Amino acid sequence: MRVLIGSSPEEVARIAADNVLAGLAEHGNGAQQVLGLATGSSPLGLYRELAVAAAQGRADFSSTLGFALDEYIGIPDTHEQSYRQTLVNEVCNVIGLPVSGLNVPKGTGSTVAEVQASADAYDAAIKAAGGIQVQILGIGANGHLGFNEPGSALTSRTRIKRLASKTRQDNARFFDGIEHVPTHCVTQGLGTILEAGRLVLVATGAGKADAIAAAVEGALSASCPGSVLQLHRDAVVVLDEAAASKLA
Ligand code: F6R
Repeated sequence: MRVLIGSSPEEVARIAADNVLAGLAEHGNGAQQVLGLATGSSPLGLYRELAVAAAQGRADFSSTLGFALDEYIGIPDTHEQSYRQTLVNEVCNVIGLPVSGLNVPKGTGSTVAEVQASADAYDAAIKAAGGIQVQILGIGANGHLGFNEPGSALTSRTRIKRLASKTRQDNARFFDGIEHVPTHCVTQGLGTILEAGRLVLVATGAGKADAIAAAVEGALSASCPGSVLQLHRDAVVVLDEAAASKLA
């Protein structure tokens, strides 16, 4: 694992974007770029830097396939807080990745079996695309990766999960009160995430310092899902000084 520390939000974003582009070059197959996308605040600067790279001709996402990490269950995918909608606004419209190339796990279905069948199909679609070349990640204050909350199996595949109450509280800022935050989601599993060619995780702020220390230097454990980064041969962790402050 490589841990890189930027001294400003701009530098964190630049380092992360450089590592995404280098990862696409290294793990790509020359024809089709396949990029794993995270929602949340952490990668927003990185997406802006990818947009700059595209504008300068250093990157081109016009035929890239995107695969989201996760989606809420219980709100339509047209809801403004659905992760599909968020990724259209914050990624597709920013870096020029076509909406037709955006894949998001399906959180809608009339039965649990139907949602799980879509989750299985999602893993199959990743495989059919040749695998995710670079997966962008954030980390929860409780160490979650995607929506793999503490206690998630290290080899898990895309599936339905219950959101931890800490995660619902953290995400209540996007909804009109915590009672409107969905209770369940569909998320890429930890095993799915580990199959990407490169992982680029971005974390900033003191609120992430404990999770980063546990993920990077703690024991490999389901109680800190982020610790699976230690199993990956090409994981890059990009931090600001506050998020790095509890590293030895
Ligand atoms: C997002 C995701 C989550 C976030 C994490 C950090 O698709 O799966 O794991 O990356 O909750 O969120 P922010 O970046 O908002 O602190």
